[in-house]
Amino acid sequence: MLASALTGKKILLGVCGSIAAYKACDIVRNLRKLGAEVTVVVTSGGARFVSPLTFAALSAAKVYGGMFDEQDAHTIPHINLARDHDMILVAPATAQTIARFAVGMADDLLSAVVLAADCPVVVCPAMNSKMFTHPATQVNLTKIAAFGYHVVQPDSGLMACKEEGPGRLPEWSVILSAVEKVFTPQDLAGKRLLITAGPTEEPLDPVRYLSNRSSGKMGYALARAAMLRGGEVVLVSGPCNLEPPANVELIQVRTAQEMYGAVLSHFDDMDIVVKCAAVSDFRPARCAPEKLKKEGADVRLELAANRDILRALGERKKSQILVGFAAESENHLEEGKRKLAAKNLDMIVVNDIQGETTGFQSDTNKVTLVTRGGEIKELELLTKEQTAMAIFDEVVALVGGGM
Ligand SMILES: Cc1cc2nc3c(=O)[nH]c(=O)nc-3n(C[C@H](O)[C@H](O)[C@H](O)COP(=O)(O)O)c2cc1C
Repeated sequence: MLASALTGKKILLGVCGSIAAYKACDIVRNLRKLGAEVTVVVTSGGARFVSPLTFAALSAAKVYGGMFDEQDAHTIPHINLARDHDMILVAPATAQTIARFAVGMADDLLSAVVLAADCPVVVCPAMNSKMFTHPATQVNLTKIAAFGYHVVQPDSGLMACKEEGPGRLPEWSVILSAVEKVFTPQDLAGKRLLITAGPTEEPLDPVRYLSNRSSGKMGYALARAAMLRGGEVVLVSGPCNLEPPANVELIQVRTAQEMYGAVLSHFDDMDIVVKCAAVSDFRPARCAPEKLKKEGADVRLELAANRDILRALGERKKSQILVGFAAESENHLEEGKRKLAAKNLDMIVVNDIQGETTGFQSDTNKVTLVTRGGEIKELELLTKEQTAMAIFDEVVALVGGGM
């Protein structure tokens, strides 16, 4: 298993009496897959929905429920559970349990543990939308947010009670982002970032296009890493088959010209721009309005050059940190250094697109970072998520050096 932000973390999962309690089973499995140790505390309501036996088997650990269980009394569970964990995640959190937290009640084990804890607390409300939007619940959520608890907004949609509205337990990807954020330094807080990702498609006729092998994985990993570090992220993406990261504004484009328009229109508002997209240098000079026929077709393809987005940004930049990518198959470093200077960049990420474990489509990457000041940092083979974090370590250092 590759190391994740959760490797070795001790997470206490509180499960309350919500119809969404069954989803907590998957939460236990997913947290453990990422290397976390999970202890489950089930409220008496929660235990009516999912048997503690299920959580014991899934977590491979003792499950706690009652405040006054005699066999645990000597360990003073509410204090020791609070002390022993790096984070408390309450998912699903009922209106009842949120109300307990808001007034500082300690009349069951979970609320007593939360009151005794000084580790981060993440609360994922799940309830009928009228219960969720009721002023009492909203006031309680505002109160617990003021205590410093991280409240994850529920999803909207059709619920088990056949009503529609906000109140559904969010998808795992959203809960995971909230959990990972707690363990990630918020060194991009207050910064606005624009990240580009994926390939572009340059149409030749209504069904055919010129494109490249970019999967978008590196750019999406960068957008997620920046969001986890507290940044406000706009992701401009060419056509990709990837789930967009939670809490990121996604702008989908198809062609290089569309990407140029989207990026340039946002550029002035940004603090940091990372251009990771594999933008097509050329497009067919003409796009046929109807599908080209085989018979009698002119087989020569005339190309027109697309505008160089990175160069345009380099010319326009004021205080922004501008990071480019150079996907090279030969003379990597020289080509990277040339682009860094020619396009007025602050840093260039040079990646070798030849290897099977690097570059397009793979889940791992091996890149070299070259900064404007001439520093060269060769990273080892890492997952694209780890590579993204390492890139932002350097970006944060550049920001620290003055933007
Ligand atoms: C079938 C059923 C589904 C319920 N679903 C929810 C729910 O999704 N969210 C919620 O806040 N309460 C829900 N409740 C009500 C809670 O179970 C009840 O308020 C209970 O006191 C919560 O206690 P706890 O927070 O200690 O688990 C449900 C009750 C029943 C019978």
